Amino acid sequence: MIELNLPKNITTGMISKSPQTSDDIVLKIEHVTKIFDSASGRVVALEDINFTVKRGQFVSIMGPSGCGKSTLLNIIGALDRPTSGNVSINGHEIFSLGDSEIATMRNRLIGYIFQSYNLVNRSTVEINVKLPAIIAGMSTSEANRRAKKVLEELGIADKAKQKPANLSGGQQQRVAIARCLINNPAIILADEPTGNLDTKTGQDIFDMLKLLSHKFGRTIIMVTHNPELAAATDRSVLIKDGKIEKDILNKNN
Ligand SMILES: Nc1ncnc2c1ncn2[C@@H]1O[C@H](COP(=O)(O)OP(=O)(O)OP(=O)(O)O)[C@@H](O)[C@H]1O
Ligand SMILES: [Mg+2]
Repeated sequence: MIELNLPKNITTGMISKSPQTSDDIVLKIEHVTKIFDSASGRVVALEDINFTVKRGQFVSIMGPSGCGKSTLLNIIGALDRPTSGNVSINGHEIFSLGDSEIATMRNRLIGYIFQSYNLVNRSTVEINVKLPAIIAGMSTSEANRRAKKVLEELGIADKAKQKPANLSGGQQQRVAIARCLINNPAIILADEPTGNLDTKTGQDIFDMLKLLSHKFGRTIIMVTHNPELAAATDRSVLIKDGKIEKDILNKNN
């Protein structure tokens, strides 16, 4: 068993188990190429990327700076369109849809965690967490109930009325995790979620993600520069110059 340094009150309430079996495919990336044409020239950021991710798998993405990790995550998260190729989530071909349908899919299916938290600093923690639920059309009472529950589960219920800027980095990242869980996403994407944190706090956040994956069956794709954290995930995909160089299953996790 892994040692987890997590709030004792984490429960199976908001952070619900994935209902499907563990061997079904939640994400399929097919022939994804991304070319940036800018004033400074043409950059092939991704070249014919193909892979699938099973439900409940915790995947790390590694590779040198500029190799295309964030570009790939942004395409999986439908924040950007590929130049060619497609991404399917739960069998929905995302880029066959129009922009407003893509926005809806992103809101319903994807939870995103960023290195710099990306919280709305003028709003309280509670409002930050509720926002994706409100956008999804949930009633205020249901959004309130869910936000309360998920904040409790992540051990930050006492911070609900605070502004994010008054919280530590680790607490802000917990708020971001709470926000990403509120709509019960099919996939959680994390771009260097421990990159701004000290080693101990970064390990706590990683342990929380690992718990979400292993205990609650969440599918997680995490970009990291930390080889030790990557080795503690189920699978590591190494990208080099926009292509998959290695794709390995990590034993003993
Ligand atoms: N909007 C953009 N316009 C032009 N080029 C871009 C754009 N976004 C990314 N790139 C280029 O695409 C390549 C991949 O960038 P990306 O941000 O995906 O790298 P990364 O692997 O996430 O790097 P890091 O580890 O530094 O975060 C780089 O050469 C980058 O300069
Ligand atoms: Mg990046």
